[in-house]
Amino acid sequence: MTDVTRKDFDEVMVPCYNPMSVIPVRGEGARIWDQQDKEYVDFAGGIAVSCLGHCHPVMVEALTKQANQLWHLSNVMTNEPALRLAKKLVELSFADKVFFANSGAEANEAALKLARRYAVDEFGEHKSKIIAFNQGFHGRTFFTVTVGGQSAYSDGFGPKPGDIDHIPYNDIKAFEAAISDETCAVMMEPLQGEGGIIAPTSEFVQTVRELCDKHNALLIFDEVQTGNGRTGDFYAYQGLGVTPDILSTAKSLGGGFPVGAMMTTEKLAKHLKIGTHGSTYGGNPLACAVAEAVVGHVSQPDVLQGVKEREGLFRTELERINAKYPIFAEFRGKGLLLGAELNDDWKGRSRDVLVAAGEEGLMVLIAGANVVRFTPSLVITPEEIKQGFERFEAAVAKLYNA
Ligand SMILES: Cc1ncc(COP(=O)(O)O)c(C=O)c1O
Repeated sequence: MTDVTRKDFDEVMVPCYNPMSVIPVRGEGARIWDQQDKEYVDFAGGIAVSCLGHCHPVMVEALTKQANQLWHLSNVMTNEPALRLAKKLVELSFADKVFFANSGAEANEAALKLARRYAVDEFGEHKSKIIAFNQGFHGRTFFTVTVGGQSAYSDGFGPKPGDIDHIPYNDIKAFEAAISDETCAVMMEPLQGEGGIIAPTSEFVQTVRELCDKHNALLIFDEVQTGNGRTGDFYAYQGLGVTPDILSTAKSLGGGFPVGAMMTTEKLAKHLKIGTHGSTYGGNPLACAVAEAVVGHVSQPDVLQGVKEREGLFRTELERINAKYPIFAEFRGKGLLLGAELNDDWKGRSRDVLVAAGEEGLMVLIAGANVVRFTPSLVITPEEIKQGFERFEAAVAKLYNA
């Protein structure tokens, strides 16, 4: 029985989204079913969130166990799942300390506020400049959306938070020109996601680290999309050989349950003294219990190795389809954060590919008008991958032959 439809969205929801016409009602592994019981293979994973697919037993068990035990306390008291999760995240990274939030934007907001507070405490008010990158994406709070490099998202809301400069990603000369002793922090994605799946060159990322050290600027890695195994390392920085001072994580951290975290060193963390920052829900027992289970599972070496193997399967299938129906110029990204850039003849048509795939029973994503993006479950099975690409091939063939 269906008593709500896509039409209701336009009636009762704020129109800041334009959702697809289908309404999924259940999911299992890398498959979802809509209201009419049509089945889809899910290569989108809720935009790099559903890292264990839908309703993975590890997550369901953690959630239901905690749901029968304790849901919420607020930060007036700490709780066991939050403490266990924080210990696990510290163990898996450079960080000594963790602050919990509910989303990527909130984790980034905490990161930026910590960087500003540290600079004010240690160097004075003048050290306030933040360097960020064109096409970067860091969330939708006013601070984070302004640090993000897409003014279309931050324009039109009145005066913006100040002292934020944007420069081209991977441009060493522009970076050298932009950084100074007044730079408080550099915020970057260690692989740009929303901006089109753009990896940093190793020379660029090394230079960023070196110049941050030289100018006492903090390096913030936004690993909201790349973190928790997405690139085949638990965090992307571990595959780059460059360690940030602050790291934000969310999305896959909860595998579908909203949770985010800002992680940093002891030296920096002490600047967020009692009362300087906070959140009602951040570190909520229910969220942390799920995240603890997700992190415990994803961080296992065989799961991380499996991401690299699946990347190989994705790339092989994409090359195969492109040899028959050449619409793509390039495949890029790392692990299961992959982008297929359309060639000149197909420029601007990524949404057409997404819609055609949907009609064939496959969910994919886009990253801008020229890139089709894939961020599936990290444990998607080879059979699900094969079936998904049969559908992708049918969609591409239909477009190509139209
Ligand atoms: C790199 C990056 N940072 C931050 C965010 C914002 O996360 P959230 O939507 O959970 O606030 C996103 C979301 O797409 C992201 O990709």
